[in-house]
Amino acid sequence: MPVFKLNVNNKEYTVETESDMPLLWVLRDLLDLTGTKYGCGVASCGACTVIMDGNAVYACQRTVSTCVNKKIITIEGLSEDGSHPVQKAWQKAGVPQCGYCQPGQMMAAAALLGKNKKPSEELINETMSENLCRCGTYHRIKEAIHMAIEEINK
Ligand code: FES
Ligand code: FES
Repeated sequence: MPVFKLNVNNKEYTVETESDMPLLWVLRDLLDLTGTKYGCGVASCGACTVIMDGNAVYACQRTVSTCVNKKIITIEGLSEDGSHPVQKAWQKAGVPQCGYCQPGQMMAAAALLGKNKKPSEELINETMSENLCRCGTYHRIKEAIHMAIEEINK
């Protein structure tokens, strides 16, 4: 089987797998990074969102062969100690209910704020509409994003 070198959370990994294995399964099954969740597998829920070269991407939609020479960040690598403004805001706002969608939500928010420290309401809504929450925590997600924006800009 082919071998791929991946950079995940600033660590180099070598994985041996079929070239069309989705990144989601590489992360979860081969690297044991299970914070990235499987929701739909068809680009409809955002539960599998990770950051790749600064952009939010669906890990279920990227094959391992397209992830070489990219910088991939998962929820486990957002910070070493929970100090990322998005993590702090999520905790302060008590966002999660069941929690299943939340890693994806946080990675989408972190990617947005990584590119734009003061995103417009419209951009926030547009970006976050890619991530579904069956528990309906949308109001608290928005509140947390605004808290994180405040923290980043102070
Ligand atoms: S599991 Fe990837 S978008 Fe739903
Ligand atoms: S917190 Fe349960 S699906 Fe979002």
